[in-house]
Amino acid sequence: MKIDSLKHKFLYKHKNLLLNFVAATFLIGLAFRFLFFNSSEIPPVLQSPFPEKTAVLEPSVSTPVTEDGPKIADQINDAEKCDVLVGDWVPNPSGPVYNNESCKFIESHQNCLTNGRPDRGFMNWRWSPRDCELPQFDAERFLRMMRNKKWALIGDSISRNHVQSLLCMLSMVEPAEEVYHDKEYRSRKWHFPSYNFSLWVIWSPFLVKAAIFEDMNGVATSEVELHLDKLHSEWVDEYQNLDYMIISTGKWFLKSSIYYENDSIIGCHYCPKRNLTELGFDFAYRKSLRLAMNFIASSNHKGLIFFRTSTPDHFEYGEWFSGGNCNRTAPVKEGEMEMKDLNRILRDIELEEFANATAKASRNGVNLKLLDVAPLSLLRPDGHPGPYRQFHPFAEGQNAQVQNDCLHWCLPGPIDSWNDIIMKMVIDG
Ligand SMILES: *[C@@H]1O[C@H](CO)[C@@H](O)[C@H](O)[C@H]1NC(C)=O
Ligand SMILES: *[C@@H]1O[C@H](CO)[C@@H](O)[C@H](O)[C@H]1NC(C)=O
Ligand SMILES: *[C@@H]1O[C@H](CO)[C@@H](O)[C@H](O)[C@H]1NC(C)=O
Ligand SMILES: *[C@@H]1O[C@H](CO)[C@@H](O)[C@H](O)[C@H]1NC(C)=O
Ligand SMILES: *[C@@H]1O[C@H](CO)[C@@H](O)[C@H](O)[C@H]1NC(C)=O
Ligand SMILES: *[C@@H]1O[C@H](CO)[C@@H](O)[C@H](O)[C@H]1NC(C)=O
Repeated sequence: MKIDSLKHKFLYKHKNLLLNFVAATFLIGLAFRFLFFNSSEIPPVLQSPFPEKTAVLEPSVSTPVTEDGPKIADQINDAEKCDVLVGDWVPNPSGPVYNNESCKFIESHQNCLTNGRPDRGFMNWRWSPRDCELPQFDAERFLRMMRNKKWALIGDSISRNHVQSLLCMLSMVEPAEEVYHDKEYRSRKWHFPSYNFSLWVIWSPFLVKAAIFEDMNGVATSEVELHLDKLHSEWVDEYQNLDYMIISTGKWFLKSSIYYENDSIIGCHYCPKRNLTELGFDFAYRKSLRLAMNFIASSNHKGLIFFRTSTPDHFEYGEWFSGGNCNRTAPVKEGEMEMKDLNRILRDIELEEFANATAKASRNGVNLKLLDVAPLSLLRPDGHPGPYRQFHPFAEGQNAQVQNDCLHWCLPGPIDSWNDIIMKMVIDG
């Protein structure tokens, strides 16, 4: 009885939320302009305070002699198996290994130090699993293990946020050379010459084929057209060339969209001007993820593929379109903060579809792993740029009207710990 009524309540809430969401999407166009478009699509060379080619601080490194991948694996496999994703944020007095001076890869909107964020505490934490030691990311070992390998982060602007963290850490050992970028600087490739290691970021915010109609200011002139039965060629075409991938998607599915199958319209999400069936973003999200995961699970890929869960935003005192902010300065403890419904809906679909896909993947010998960073990210409301997505936002006074970003992450910041986790998972797996 109790459970039934709870379930009822949840379904009711869920339905309401979807309806609310339809209404809220009206405003999304505007906010996404800040959160996704501006932050991503202006070529960084135009906004970067650093000239692209000045090597700052990076000592030149001589070619290392041996590859010690297997040896490290032996050492660390001795440690008891544990779930590295269950743990706490603990103080890390030594602070981050890079900063805004030593790293030239930090996008201006996430460069909280340069942008004048006054508090520093948010950088002095590291993720500590409850049941085992998590060694800090060792850039030199990582590069040695990755000799002759190709690695890609595939997804939206959070994947770009992450690649910048990884670039900052790796470039302390050897400066990354950019070898490719697309016109909008969204898909990019870097190479670490002494290690012949390639690191790519592939822009694919939906993973499925999408036509996006936005002008240079991010104002949508029409709904996104999403083909729920076709994967995005940008990543699929490279798939077999890559040794490691971290694949992720998420918030772009909340945008106004028209859904296609077999090149015919089957419905939409928030398209009031069109006489189409509202199918809900959750419908499209599940379908797209299922398609992507099914492709991976049946691919007989020989490398290691992480599916990264989407990360929660932390707007408080309002939403991103209604003056919400994220002004905390320290992590919270598990249970102290609840995941918002919207983030939970996305996450539940991710976990369900991942679970379904893994059975098939393991039958086919595909090494597909879950990189479930959502719970540990939830504990870091302090890690976002907030108003410091802009350069000195309060230069004109404390009452300046600024858009907060409580979705992306400051660099240095919490996502640097993702690299510790990935390194351990690579070594263990
Ligand atoms: C780095 O951030 C500090 C403030 O934390 C600032 O004084 C300095 O100018 C920044 N450096 C660069 C290169 O932006
Ligand atoms: C560099 O690595 C690629 C694979 O990522 C390989 O095809 C190529 O032969 C390597 N180059 C050298 C010089 O080893
Ligand atoms: C798309 O085509 C497939 C195979 O031809 C068919 O099974 C499916 O029902 C079609 N879907 C739609 C929405 O028309
Ligand atoms: C909307 O579509 C339905 C069914 O396809 C149709 O009956 C109705 O007349 C349409 N309404 C408008 C305003 O076009
Ligand atoms: C955070 O923002 C809220 C809402 O604007 C405000 O009431 C609160 O005092 C702020 N907290 C801090 C620590 O600045
Ligand atoms: C995934 O698992 C659920 C529950 O077991 C099931 O209802 C659903 O049909 C499965 N989907 C696929 C694609 O296997």
